[in-house]
Amino acid sequence: MDSNPAEMNWEELKQAALGCKKCRLCETRKTVVFGEGSPSARVMFIGEGPGKTEDETGRPFVGRAGELLTRIVENGMGLTRQDVYIANVVKCRPTVDQKGFKDRPPDPEETAACSPYLMRQIQLIAPEAIVTLGNPSTRFLLQTSTGITKLRGKWADYNGIPVMPTYHPSYVLRNGGEKSPLRRDVWEDIKMVMNRLGIPVRSPGT
Ligand code: URA
Repeated sequence: MDSNPAEMNWEELKQAALGCKKCRLCETRKTVVFGEGSPSARVMFIGEGPGKTEDETGRPFVGRAGELLTRIVENGMGLTRQDVYIANVVKCRPTVDQKGFKDRPPDPEETAACSPYLMRQIQLIAPEAIVTLGNPSTRFLLQTSTGITKLRGKWADYNGIPVMPTYHPSYVLRNGGEKSPLRRDVWEDIKMVMNRLGIPVRSPGT
């Protein structure tokens, strides 16, 4: 039976994603990384796709980029990963030439095949705000080809849900890491989300 994600409940959606063969990424994945956190989260973070560690563990954002995202959530926002929801545009790891060595962004076909899962996740969670991390998730949700540098730090909208685009943690790590000005920009963007949700901003940074 090939049913429609838009009509599924959370468990049906998860099971459908875990068994998905709608694109070629299923041939090389170790695990499907559905997402993690609270299905009633107020804030949702959306990255691009699982990397090596995520593919091995089945959990989103648990590699180096994930450590930075976790610090943003925990030290910056004063929340836990279980308070928020963390997902990706695609649920299986995309690598260059499908060889399993070098990660790459999902291509349009992979995004089209996988996005019904993400769209239904957003609909079911109905977060008060979405933080898109980097170009693929920002471009997909906002249906734009504009780059993250122009879009970050400005509220946008996805089906009535406020969206705050910001840099992907991997991009921050590749460009100076903890000391990078990009890191400060991410914190400024996260503070806008906290202010909107009434989460007290108590620490000077993430
Ligand atoms: N990068 C992403 O975009 N998502 C992950 O889950 C891990 C790294």
